[in-house]
Amino acid sequence: MSHRLLVCGLLAFLLVAGGVSLRPAHAALTPDQKKEIEEIRKELGKVQALIGKKDQHEEAEKLLTEAETKLKKIGKDAGDENNKLITGLLRQIELKKTALARRDAPAKGVAAAGAALSFEKEIAPILVKNCLGCHDDTASGGLKFDTFASLAAGCGGKLVVPGNPDASILTRRLVAAGEARMPKGGKALAPDEIRKIATWIAGGAKFAGNKDTLLSELTADANAKVDNTPVAIATATGSEKVSFQRDIAPFMVNLCVNCHSGANPRAGFSLETFEKLMKGGRSGRVVLPGNTEDSRLWHLVGKQDPIKMPQGQALITRTNHTNLRVWIEEGAKFDGPDPKAPLRSLVPTEAELRAAELAKLSPEELVNRRIERATSLWKKTTQEAPSTIAQGEQVMVLGNVSEDRLKQYAAWGDDAAKQVASIFKASETPLWRGKLAVFVFSDRFTYSEFVQTNEARELLPEIQSHVRIRDPEDAYLCLMDIPDDTTDSPGAPGMVLAQVTEAFLQRGGKTLPEWVSRGTGLALAARNDAKNEYYRQLGVSAGARLQTLQKPDDLLKDGTFSPADLGPVGYSLVAYMLRQGEPQYVQFVSALLAGKTLDESLKGVYNADAAKVAASYLASGAAGPRNAPRKKGK
Ligand code: HEC
Ligand code: HEC
Repeated sequence: MSHRLLVCGLLAFLLVAGGVSLRPAHAALTPDQKKEIEEIRKELGKVQALIGKKDQHEEAEKLLTEAETKLKKIGKDAGDENNKLITGLLRQIELKKTALARRDAPAKGVAAAGAALSFEKEIAPILVKNCLGCHDDTASGGLKFDTFASLAAGCGGKLVVPGNPDASILTRRLVAAGEARMPKGGKALAPDEIRKIATWIAGGAKFAGNKDTLLSELTADANAKVDNTPVAIATATGSEKVSFQRDIAPFMVNLCVNCHSGANPRAGFSLETFEKLMKGGRSGRVVLPGNTEDSRLWHLVGKQDPIKMPQGQALITRTNHTNLRVWIEEGAKFDGPDPKAPLRSLVPTEAELRAAELAKLSPEELVNRRIERATSLWKKTTQEAPSTIAQGEQVMVLGNVSEDRLKQYAAWGDDAAKQVASIFKASETPLWRGKLAVFVFSDRFTYSEFVQTNEARELLPEIQSHVRIRDPEDAYLCLMDIPDDTTDSPGAPGMVLAQVTEAFLQRGGKTLPEWVSRGTGLALAARNDAKNEYYRQLGVSAGARLQTLQKPDDLLKDGTFSPADLGPVGYSLVAYMLRQGEPQYVQFVSALLAGKTLDESLKGVYNADAAKVAASYLASGAAGPRNAPRKKGK
């Protein structure tokens, strides 16, 4: 049997593929030049026949050399040597020359040359560099060839058929037309790389090493030299035109980090930190400071050669493109606080950007912003602009109740804010920059629509009011309009005080323990309205709920109670603590607001931890009659 025929078969296939991949002409070529190229292409069509005849090889060689010279001259004249039309033909010429050489070489020579090729030195590096980004653990197309063993087994043993490059899917896919050609979506391998792989297969696809070693480790010797030297990180002087933090990190975070992070970043290249970026990936360093020409990152992102980054549809902008080039040219310097910090931390989030923008506004501008925001939230719910907005000193109130009623709520809101400020010794007015927006709903339907459209969640049936302080733009509370004075609710003024207190405790994005947030306002409202039967009922509900509490230690922990139970339990607990002394309670809450943990804050004021406070509360009977905790086991 003859290896020669098989190799030639593949190469004939290569020739066809070369013709198929022709792209439309570049605009820089004149019509005359295009015509000339077209003639060269026709001329080249004759070469195949010449190669077939043994005595015509010299003629074929001459034709090819002439065509090559002409094409190069056209490219030069047009100032467009990389024109796809020209490079495509040049590649064809290269392949045909190879075919000629193969015809002339004795058959045994090919097999012998193939057998002499070292898999780890010659073949694996090509695969590692060009294929494993998609065919390692990520197994694109269900195919992974991260080891020699999986290469041999791939495509049911057809991936590599020893001695037969023509039958090997590996080689076929390297020269296939269109979408099927690998590397997928990237530039074809260089002809001499394809030839090397084909020759190696023709030579029996030999490999003497450990078949289960990762190809990336087989070739790691060459990379190790690059990777093990510590990354030198140059610090920016401030005179650079491009700042990494301002101009580069944001687009990398948005367009690259998804694929280039985690335990198994694509191509072994992680962009989680600046240090990792400089460390590079499977093919070693990808950013060479001051040297765009040899920086793989620039090739992939800037020139999209041989493949395009970001992979997929996403595109960088022209500005990103220029910045990236200038940044590498200027020495790829770092101007962030810490090269080991996540790249994401260098890039402000949208909320942070908005917060920074809002921080610059004057108090009046901020109030106007809040009015706009509140109006738009209301319009999204009802499709109509609010008929009026009642302005208080600390709050702005809008909703679908009468104007007089809105004004009444504004007055209660201001009053509540004053009480809270005095209890917690907060001197700034208004307490919320830009005032607190208050939405009042005449009906449950509108309230639940509001929550659905603006907070994308369902309103629980037992909820009559809630607070939302998300970022500087969203500081509002929602209230069902309820009678002023009833025994089945705190009454409108009491509810306003409870919610305003909660909104105060959540200012500045602090997350306090749930029972503090929910309970404090209710307990303060109860003191103003001690005779209201509602609060006695709250205490009873708390007692009932606590009957089923398994571990007293859980009492003060977040997540122990449902939102519906949190009201009664929080109220009962805070009321108990307030009875022990208001100054202490205020001190305790101030410690939480200053950022201390629950245990630290309790220790500082009560000299007790959460478990001890829970125990003394339960023992006091403040939560109403309660059975001893149920015994474990049945
Ligand atoms: C950018 C990602 C990507 C790169 C890089 C890539 N491939 Fe693929 N490859 C795919 C995807 C996706 C498929 C499945 C779709 C298809 O068959 O076209 C695939 C399919 C294949 C198949 C066919 C599998 C089968 O079951 O028929 C072979 C063979 C293959 N690739 C070889 C290679 C080789 C060799 C390289 C490197 C020279 C390479 N690929 C580089 C994404 C890639
Ligand atoms: C959708 C996933 C995806 C996105 C998004 C993506 N990449 Fe890649 N990246 C890959 C894959 C897959 C490879 C391996 C391709 C190969 O080997 O042919 C790769 C390889 C690379 C490499 C080569 C690493 C090495 O050592 O050879 C660099 C550099 C790179 N990407 C940079 C970027 C940059 C910069 C961005 C953002 C502008 C980006 N990538 C976005 C998937 C992605």
